[in-house]
Parts: sequence; structure tokens; C-alpha cells
Amino acid sequence: MNKISFTDTTLRDGPQSLWATRMRIEDMLPIIEKIDNAGYASVEVWGGATFDVCMRYLGEDPWERLRTFKKCFKKTPLQMLLRGQTLVGYQQSPDDVVEAFVTRAIENGIDIMRIFDALNSIDNMRVAIRAAKKAGGKVQGSVVYTLSPVHTMEHYLKTAQDLIDEGVDSLCLKDMGGILTPQPTYDIIKMWKEHFPDVPVQLHTHFTCAMAPACALEAARAGAEIIDTCSAPLAFGSSQPPIEPLVRSFEECGFTTDMDMDLLWDIADYFEDLRAKYGYERGVNKLSDMKVFDHQVPGGMISNLVSQLRQQKAEHRLDEVLAEVPKVRADLGWPPLVTPCSQIVGIQSVLNVLTGQRYKLVPDEVKAFVKGLYGPSPAPITEEIRKKIIGDEQPISCRPADLLPAKMDEAKAEIADLTSDYDQIIAYAMFPMVTRQWLEGMRDGTYKIDLSLPSAQAALNNEEGDMDMNLKDIKELISALDSKEINEFVFEDDKFKLAIRKGVVAAAGAAPAAAPVAAAPAAAAPVAAAPAAVEAGEVALAANQKTIVSPIVGTFYAAPAPDAAPFVKEGDVVAKGQTVCIVEAMKLFNQIESDYAGKIVKVLVANAEAVEYGQPLFIIEE
Ligand code: CO
Repeated sequence: MNKISFTDTTLRDGPQSLWATRMRIEDMLPIIEKIDNAGYASVEVWGGATFDVCMRYLGEDPWERLRTFKKCFKKTPLQMLLRGQTLVGYQQSPDDVVEAFVTRAIENGIDIMRIFDALNSIDNMRVAIRAAKKAGGKVQGSVVYTLSPVHTMEHYLKTAQDLIDEGVDSLCLKDMGGILTPQPTYDIIKMWKEHFPDVPVQLHTHFTCAMAPACALEAARAGAEIIDTCSAPLAFGSSQPPIEPLVRSFEECGFTTDMDMDLLWDIADYFEDLRAKYGYERGVNKLSDMKVFDHQVPGGMISNLVSQLRQQKAEHRLDEVLAEVPKVRADLGWPPLVTPCSQIVGIQSVLNVLTGQRYKLVPDEVKAFVKGLYGPSPAPITEEIRKKIIGDEQPISCRPADLLPAKMDEAKAEIADLTSDYDQIIAYAMFPMVTRQWLEGMRDGTYKIDLSLPSAQAALNNEEGDMDMNLKDIKELISALDSKEINEFVFEDDKFKLAIRKGVVAAAGAAPAAAPVAAAPAAAAPVAAAPAAVEAGEVALAANQKTIVSPIVGTFYAAPAPDAAPFVKEGDVVAKGQTVCIVEAMKLFNQIESDYAGKIVKVLVANAEAVEYGQPLFIIEE
């Protein structure tokens, strides 16, 4: 009888898919021993979006989290997801940063590194693969599955062959979009097993179009050894298929497993309670997600587009955006819709629809993609599209990272005022702004945390009711942080700000929608200094003055980098088309250009401040 094994994703991909990655280490610790003993081949616990979310939103040190896992998991190998040269970020890193990060990830406890590249480009994976092998880790080479005219069986065979030539220990068929169907699963894995009979094969799918369990069975029939699954409360929807029914299905079909069903149900009960406490929904499969074969947009990307459009108050334009996505994708040479390409294609589609003019506003990352800075597009980009996006510039012909100068020494010097910890320097090299803010927060005992938890949102929305009780609720959510002797928190989202200091709670209305809490206590000093957001109608303008407005909801940055000079300051004269600031949206940096020539007379928003769609950023005088 064939044995089938499982990798648990309940601590990484599950929460990333369903809970916006907002699961804290304190919520994981009580259940780790049971997961460790349940019979998993490995546990995926790190990488993907968890790294920057730890710093951005959870006030956690991602490296410390990894060391904690290593201490607590006594027998199950730890696995992580690495985006090739992009590591755990959204832009490629220079080779010295890749080598440092990969080596330290393994030294801190990672046993198996699953490495992929959004474009299936071996050039983008080679440095990471070699560094991981050198550091003594096992490498799982991943082949991204997508639907397009150029992603053929030959492509999947060649990519696997190239990975094996690089020395990977196993292969993964990676369906991050949740668009894999049973027959191609069988065909691709069968083909791999015929060509590479000794290489173990693992299947990573998302449940989004509801075919994942069928794919899992076909994968096993074709010879795959390991299937990625999640504990039921964090499974379904855009997450992985649930382990509990799969084990039963496999055993009925004649496979053996090492899984302990009693422990699996204990684990499920634990996460079901946690889910209820935080107020998250179970994973659901939307009709639009199951219609993926009509519109070709993966479910995870749809939810991103919906939240982006909702912020822009343009949710009703989703159908237009869904129709635009395949057009942009074809224009860009059929990149798989996976990070970072899903963001690149997604935001360009949103901008094309919102501005009413295709490629009028093109984020830097889209330009970089067309220049070949993410690797070669799967199919060539036409001359016409290239010209529209990058003008007369020519795409590169070398490996993108060959153009990136070494960065570790510079990073070390730049962040020396806050840390000399090597791992934190690596974090800074990947995420300069985020890491600096996080380290400053640690130094000052102040964390900026967004209140995205549904239960926190509910509590905040009820603030006219029993304030104490609701806030106690919120405090409980973050009570784990108290144990680190931090006595002040600043929470914020676009409606509300809240400060907790030594157990005393102060709340203050912030952005325009916060009218119900306008009677904010004066004690809210830490947040009162934040500049009030300005609605378009509130800016008083002289006859010769105009405003430059944000074309998208996001975060305003006055300068290209934390220590750089701002693009413009008050008194500067700018030309039409000159870059005046950056608005970060959907994890992409969009350079905002002035629509007019004139003098900047006022900068209306502070650096790193959240901005609304249409919010004035500058007053400019002709
Ligand atoms: Co995934």
C-alpha cells in the first residue's frame, strides 16, 4: 500500500489566506505540541507574508518567532516559503542579501525551504537554492501552475528539469491561485514521475475553486508523496483543503497515513475557538471564485481587488476590473497571477478602470516588469505596449539581480542607530521603511497596529455602547504584548485611533468618517498630533491654485527612501509630469506626477500617512 504524507499550513498559508496573516505567536504556542505529534511530514510555519506582517502589524520579531518554533517543534521538520530572489518581500534583493537571509533562515531553524519564482525563472531561484543547500537545508523547487497559452506540459517539464539540474531535493506543483483541476494535476505529476522517478513530489493547492480534494487524490494516484493541508477551521475558501476529510478519503482509497485523527480533531477544536474569538468567518467558496475558468482571475486576487475597490469606494466596478485583468495579463506577456505579478496586473487593471484611460497611471513596479526587472515575461510583450509603458527604454537582457549592487554593508550602516543585530539588519535590507518603524516602535515602547481583526472592528464600531467592555475585548487580543512590558499602544485604521497607556485607554477620532467619536478625550496626546485628513471640499484655494490629489487609496511617502530628500517641498517649482510623491497601494509604490506646472505652496499630508481616493496631497500655484 502506498503511503501519503501531509504538510500542515495552519500556521502560515491558512492564516495568510483567510485572516490577513494576523495570527500571533501567542495564539500558536498552546497547540504546537499537538501539531508536532499529529504525524505531519513537515509544518509550514514561516515565510510568505508572515515576515513583514510580524513587523508591520503584530509588533513581533519574525526571527524570534522562527526561533520559538524551533524550540517548540521537537520532531516535525520546519518548512518555509521563499519567493526566490524576492525572498519574503515584494521586490528582488541583491545576491548578498539573498545569501544572508537564506543562510540565517536555515541557521535559525528552517529545515525545508520551498523556493518558487512567480515567472518560473530559474535565474531568479538559483542563488537562493545554492545558498540553502550550502547552509545545510533541504530545498523544494516549486513550479507555479497557471492557465495561459504559453504554460504548456513542455513548460512544466522543462522548469522541473531545470530545478533538478540545480540540485533541488524535491519538487512542488504549486497552485497558489486555486485554479488547478484534477486532470492537469494527474498529467503533470505523472509526467514528472516518469522523467524523475526518484524525486519526491508535493502538491500545494488552494481550495478556491473547490477542486483541491479531487486534485489531492489525483496527485497521489500519479505518485505524489506529500499533500499540503490545513486544519479545518482555517481551511476551505481561498485556503488549503482540510486535513480531516482528506485523511479519511485517502485511507478509503487504499493509502496509508501517519496521521492521528484524535489529535487532528483536538487541533481543529482549538483553532475553531480561536477563530470564533477573533470573529473570522470560515473559508467560503464564492460563486465568482468557482467561475474562475470564465474570468481567469484567482480568488485570492479577487478579494484583493474587492478590498482595494471598496477602499476607493468603487466596489461596483469589480466586473469591469475582472474583465480588464486578462487584457492586462495578455499585454504583459501572460505572467502567472501570483505575488508579485498578481499585484502588478491587479493594480494596473484597477488603475486602467478607475482613471478611465489604459496605462495613464503606471506604477513603478509595472514599468519594472516591462523592463524585465522581474525576469523575462513568459511570452514577449508587444512593441506597442512596451512603448506605452516605458517609452523608448529597452528591456534588460541579463539576470535582473545582476543589476543590483550589494546592500548588506550599506544596510548595516543605515540602521546602526537602531540595531546591530545581524538578522534585523537583513530585515532592514529587505524592508527599510517597515523595519525602521518597527525598530523605533520597539525602542520607544510604541507599536502601531492596524485594527483589522473583525472582533476589534466590531468593538470599534460599537464605541457608543459599552466602551469599557469593548476596549477590554481589544486589550485581550493584544494582551500577549503586555507580557513584553510594553505599556503603550497606538492603534489606527482609517476611521479610528486608540491609545492604551499603562492600562489607561484613550480614544480619538481621526479620519473624516470618525464623527461618532468626535468627543475624544484630550488625553489622546500620542495620536492627537496626527494631522487631520482633509476632504476635498475643505481645502481653501485661491483662484490661481489647484490641488494634486491621490488617484488611489494608499500610504503617502514624500521621499523615495526613508533617508532621502523629499521629491518636493513647499516653495519648489515643479513641471507638469514631475514626480511629487509616492502613494503605496496594494504593496506597490506609485509615483504620483503633477498634472500642472507651478509652485508647491502647501504639502497637505504627513509622510507615511494613509490617504483616501481623491484626497488633496499638495496645493500648487500656477
Ligand atoms: Co499558498
